[in-house]
Formats: sequence, structure tokens, C-alpha cells
Amino acid sequence: MAHIVITSGPTRQYLDPVRYLTNASSGRMGAALAQAALDFGHQVTVVSGPVSVEYPSQAKVFWVTTTQEMLDATRIAFSTADGLIGAAAPCDYMPEHVEKNKLHKTGSDISIHLMETPDIVATLAANKLPKQWVVAFALETEDVRFRAIVKLSRKACDMIVSNSAQAMNAEDNNVEVILRGGTVLDQFYGPKPLVAAGILRLIEKHLIAPIAIA
Ligand code: C5P
Repeated sequence: MAHIVITSGPTRQYLDPVRYLTNASSGRMGAALAQAALDFGHQVTVVSGPVSVEYPSQAKVFWVTTTQEMLDATRIAFSTADGLIGAAAPCDYMPEHVEKNKLHKTGSDISIHLMETPDIVATLAANKLPKQWVVAFALETEDVRFRAIVKLSRKACDMIVSNSAQAMNAEDNNVEVILRGGTVLDQFYGPKPLVAAGILRLIEKHLIAPIAIA
């Protein structure tokens, strides 16, 4: 049995106490992956941003809001885990300042300076133990396979699941799974639980089984 950490859902970056940046990630893919990992007999920890999707009751769930909080919680969970699946859609930018009070209209335009947030998958993959593995997702609108392979290598992950923007907030997904080195392993299309089971089968074969044998 492996201990698998799954990041899931969006994060939020507040501008002021009532307004925030976010995206349409529903957490459905993360929930489906959690169920598939449990079905394979693994222990599952989910680190989730704010979503209304229900995670399987056998999974331990840590709720977070910002990308930094997701990184902190995932780092702790991953320190005693075997693998990480980055299915979340964390905000890539955060406002430099979060206003203490609600921003009021003044009659003129305002600009907000955004800073990059940390990349959870890349940070944890860069510091992982040799027996740990990291799987990322890549959501692209064009040159989907090429960009996924570039991301796989840039983020030093062991496997990447590339999907297109239709996956966001949808019931179905259409993915291609690529192993480190750029080998395209398989494609899955259909309801997210079915796609998640296919991805877990490949994780089992290419990432979990070789470590169990070693
Ligand atoms: O670079 P991009 O956001 O497309 O990469 C997607 C992958 O990186 C996903 O696995 C996502 O969970 C992860 N990611 C992350 N931290 C971020 C942004 C993306 O872990 N700040």
C-alpha cells in the first residue's frame, strides 16, 4: 500500500476582505483520483482548495485557501508519503498587497500588481527523495502534447497528464499520460472516474510497482 497525496481544486488569492482571484476548477478530477487510489488499496490524503465536491470519506482532507497554504499543507503531507498527484489548479499570481478594508470606488481606474505564487509540484519534485514520485497535470489550449512534455521536464516530474481546457468544471475528461523522458503511455476519454482509474493503473505500473520491487 502506498500513501498518495493529491492536490485538488482551485486556490483563492484575496485582493481585499471580500474579493479574490480564482478559477473554475471543481475538484472533480481530484475526487475521482482519490477514489481510484483508494480502490487500488492506497492511503489517500487530499489537500483541497474551496470546492463543493465531496471527497471519499476514507480520504483524509486538509482544506486550504491560498496557493502558499496549499504548498505548506502539501509539503507536510508529502514528507511522509510515497507519491504526489498535482490535480489542483492553484492561482499562479497573487496581489502584492491584500487591502485590510474593502476597496471603494473612487471614479478612476486602479491597477493591481500581481506577484507569482510558488509552484507546488515543482517545489516538491525538486526536493523529493529518490523513492518518491510526483505526477503533474497540464491544462493547455494549444500544442497540448508538446507543452505537456516541456512542463514534465521543467517541473522535474515523473509523469504528466495532459488535458485541454474543456476539462475545467466538466464531468468528462480527455487525457494523454506521458512518462518522464517523453513516452506517451496511453489516452483516456470519458467520465472523470473512468479516466482516474486509467491514470491510477499507469501510476501503479510505472511508478509504484518498480519501487516495491527495488
Ligand atoms: O504550469 P501549470 O499551471 O500548467 O502546471 C500544471 C501543474 O502544476 C498541475 O499539476 C498543477 O497542480 C501544478 N501547479 C502547482 N502549483 C502552481 C501551479 C500549478 O502545483 N502554483
